[in-house]
Amino acid sequence: MRQPYIAGNWKMNLDRRSARELASGIREHLGARDDVQVGLFPPFVYLDEVVRAVSGSPVLVGGQNCCDEDEGAFTGEISTGMLADVGAQVALVGHSERRHVYGESDELVNRKVHAALARGLDVILCIGETIEQREAGETEATNARQLTAGIQGVAPGDLGRLTIAYEPVWAIGTGLTASPAQAGAVHAYVRGVFAGLTTDAAAEGIRILYGGSVKPDNVRELMAVPDIDGALVGGASLELETFIPIVDFGN
Ligand code: PGA
Repeated sequence: MRQPYIAGNWKMNLDRRSARELASGIREHLGARDDVQVGLFPPFVYLDEVVRAVSGSPVLVGGQNCCDEDEGAFTGEISTGMLADVGAQVALVGHSERRHVYGESDELVNRKVHAALARGLDVILCIGETIEQREAGETEATNARQLTAGIQGVAPGDLGRLTIAYEPVWAIGTGLTASPAQAGAVHAYVRGVFAGLTTDAAAEGIRILYGGSVKPDNVRELMAVPDIDGALVGGASLELETFIPIVDFGN
């Protein structure tokens, strides 16, 4: 049984105070509940604040990105060692905004996956097709390619520290959501590809999150799909009023 995982990707939003208040509110709401795993991905500069706000609780905190290099002359970058040093437990890697706005390649994404795992961080690896790729009939090929490249060379013993997030680029921040059937088809396909690359047992265990305009009013039908194990939430993760109902989808 895969524990549902609801991750909030705050992107470049909030300020110190609202980040602290949001994190504290989530922590208070959740208490010691273990029916759902919650992860928060604040901007780097508020990681410390958020780590402190949820310290001692089951809430995970992660970086929205990381550098593939360990240290040195990489102006503006944040290493996985720095993330671990401030108490982050996870790195979000390969988000579509990193791939499409900042031009990150499959190879760079793979190096980031390795950098994060090497520092003891868990990884959420994001994959997903653009609308052009979907319309050209390349949805499966695109997701297979990004997944295959993304986990290339990951040791079998580290596979349990990976989570996949399927985020169709056309559904991110647009209000368009993949239907449960559309998302479910890709999730099942991705799990099959993962099984082919690893083992059936690893594929059975890995969580595949859906992302792209997840809201309180669509989370339940998405989470009812057998291969959808959680959600990576952007806009609706910025306020308790919308994030809590998503976290509570099962209640
Ligand atoms: P959204 O973002 O929920 O605002 O569509 C999702 C994401 O980019 O992770």
